[in-house]
Amino acid sequence: MRDILSAGLSRRHVMAGLGGTALAGTMGSMARAKDLLNPPPSLTQLAQSTGRKFGSCIASSHLRHSGAIVQNPRYADLVLNECGIVVPENEMKWQAIRPDAQSFNFTEMDAIAQWAKANSIALRGHTLLWHRPKWFPEWLNNYDFGAQPASEAARLLTHHIETVMKRYGGQIHSWDVVNEAIDHDGHGILATSLSGAMGSGEDVLDLAFHTARQTAPEAQLVYNDYMSWEPQHEAHCNDVLRLLEGFRKRGTPVDALGIQSHIEIFEIDPATGTGPYREKGWRRFLDEVTGMGYKLIVTEFDVKDKALPSDIALRDQKVADFTRRYCDLMLSYPELGDFLAWGLVDKYSWLQGFAPRDDGLEVRCCPYDDDYQPKSMREALALAFEQAVPMA
Ligand code: GLA
Repeated sequence: MRDILSAGLSRRHVMAGLGGTALAGTMGSMARAKDLLNPPPSLTQLAQSTGRKFGSCIASSHLRHSGAIVQNPRYADLVLNECGIVVPENEMKWQAIRPDAQSFNFTEMDAIAQWAKANSIALRGHTLLWHRPKWFPEWLNNYDFGAQPASEAARLLTHHIETVMKRYGGQIHSWDVVNEAIDHDGHGILATSLSGAMGSGEDVLDLAFHTARQTAPEAQLVYNDYMSWEPQHEAHCNDVLRLLEGFRKRGTPVDALGIQSHIEIFEIDPATGTGPYREKGWRRFLDEVTGMGYKLIVTEFDVKDKALPSDIALRDQKVADFTRRYCDLMLSYPELGDFLAWGLVDKYSWLQGFAPRDDGLEVRCCPYDDDYQPKSMREALALAFEQAVPMA
């Protein structure tokens, strides 16, 4: 081990390549040792060549230690090998850290932050306000804002944002300040207990961004949403444009649009053999967003494969094709910064529960399969990063 380390590889690289527990067996193999000395570039190394980082969400349950053992060392090693940045899957949300109006519970979020710091991997903040009653803690939906509801709502929100940002401020430089604030039916900002108390959704969102700017003046502040390139997302894209225009008109400090990128093959388009997508409309959308001076960031990339046939090889190839089309388009924008996946290994993806396939088979939505083997989707990402336009 000391020889390999002295050959100029970082310990992180070597440990990731060794796959943690398979240390002895791996050391015996000359071919593998050669791989270790000349490891193929990781996704984040490829992304780095055009100024970006590749990353993924991560759950604290994968990292928890029992004694010196990480709970899921293979997952942790894979993240360390491929990623330059991670984001908490759920551990920073109000539902996770706010048991009630008075207290905070940072146990799980701290575990992620400490692990990222110990491994010199960057961390994003997600999210300071998911402005959707379904994702508020129950106590917040039913909160009694008292005789002066606007000032109590402002106090509560400001206190939350300042507390979280200050705790992780030295480590996090890009924050999803607000997540998914749009009402699809009403086409405006969703009504929540906070907007009811403060008088309007705009007031809530503006306060969130102003507070974030004051608390961390250098940080990138992001509005994050799931508008996407599928035809059924056109109205949502227009709603997001109106929201972003409003931010600019009111001087709300928003730096970037987070494009979640849970892209979906919901039917087969005979023209492409994968899912239908709006290339021109989506480019128009991105052009309008960047034209207003916003940067872009891909925050939660994965692929729903619902309409694809059961056959695994065929399915993986179609998912890879769709990935490549999407990434080539996104990575043609110099305004696009980091690119984060929402999970690396199929079996741990939220989509297994949220969007199960009709045939009952596992959704193949991530770059790695359940045995931690790279799929063609990983290759598609690598090729897209290799050919990306440099980040501005
Ligand atoms: C949204 C949220 C994420 C996550 C996914 C589903 O995209 O922004 O935090 O909850 O849904 O897992």
